[in-house]
Amino acid sequence: MSIMEIIKQSSFTLPEKYREMETKEMEERIREIKHQLGEALFIPGHHYQRDEVVQFADAIGDSLQLAQISAKNKRAKHIVFCGVHFMAETADILTTKEQTVILPDMRAGCSMADMADIYQTETAWKELQALFGDTMLPLTYVNSTAAIKAFVGRNGGATVTSSNAHAMVKWAFEQKERILFLPDQHLGRNTAFDLGVELDEMAVWNPISNELEYEGSLSRVKVILWKGHCSVHENFTVKNIEYVRSTYPDMKIIVHPECTREVVGLSDDNGSTKYIIEAIEGAEPGTAWAIGTEMNLVNRLIQQHPDKQIISLNPNMCPCLTMNRIDLPHLLWSLDTIVEGGEGNIIKVDEQTAREAVLALERMLNR
Ligand code: 13P
Ligand code: SF4
Repeated sequence: MSIMEIIKQSSFTLPEKYREMETKEMEERIREIKHQLGEALFIPGHHYQRDEVVQFADAIGDSLQLAQISAKNKRAKHIVFCGVHFMAETADILTTKEQTVILPDMRAGCSMADMADIYQTETAWKELQALFGDTMLPLTYVNSTAAIKAFVGRNGGATVTSSNAHAMVKWAFEQKERILFLPDQHLGRNTAFDLGVELDEMAVWNPISNELEYEGSLSRVKVILWKGHCSVHENFTVKNIEYVRSTYPDMKIIVHPECTREVVGLSDDNGSTKYIIEAIEGAEPGTAWAIGTEMNLVNRLIQQHPDKQIISLNPNMCPCLTMNRIDLPHLLWSLDTIVEGGEGNIIKVDEQTAREAVLALERMLNR
């Protein structure tokens, strides 16, 4: 069944009564259910979630932290994952059979993860092997489907997140001469560039035309980047940087490595979600920052650090729309469903896929 067919099923659509409820009533009910279920319930929340949801999270983190936390938690029977689909899949892979992972809104996907499917990946691998033989190791950003993680796992590769991408790319080069990095070309390019790979040693695989975009001798290629991107982080531009530089000359610019190479290159600093948070937390009072990452997080940092001047690098930025789909009504609906003994939006990765995907995840988590 396709994801659209799944979503169309009425059991995946928020019942009308939740749309009519007052915020206060929903918050009280969530508090009651959390109290009632105690340790049987665990709510991990990504930093990009709305404040209304984050207030109920038992753990808040970036994608690496949430994967680590999920792997450690053996007590919770119900894991209500406030993040996006690939994160809930990862949690399901890393938890036991007795634990159930629920995504409050099935429409909370990730447009970047959707830019690589398993059929495209297998086709690409075949074509690239014809060009490069057995010289490549696949690495996939965790922002990818479980099927792609499984592909990477069975081909000796690993997952990466933005907070360990440097270590994982270094590790990959100890295994093989070349890397296929998917699905985010920008994280792959920025990381490899930092590690000394020249831009003209990186080719781009276009999964739509099934072509390698590269000018030059193939023997020079060290990194093959999948032509995918984050539609949120790609919205930070060189123009935004020029504007900040001319308007606020003392302001520091810090961005997520999912931004383009040009934007990262012109910024003062770049790093994962966790890195950005720690940089702002550790900054001197009175310092000024333009941040290039998701808007729910930037707004939270603005609120938490009134002693610093913080703006979004792009003043017209909006939150990650798919992350934003998890809201108070969907969270309450998931919890009510658990209490009533229903199924809810369960994320279940099939056993064979999970067995291979865990290889890729463990190669990352055990480092
Ligand atoms: P982090 O790995 O920094 O949590 O990023 C996840 C993500 O989806 C960023 O867009
Ligand atoms: Fe995906 Fe980008 Fe949203 Fe992260 S911010 S979940 S990469 S669309």
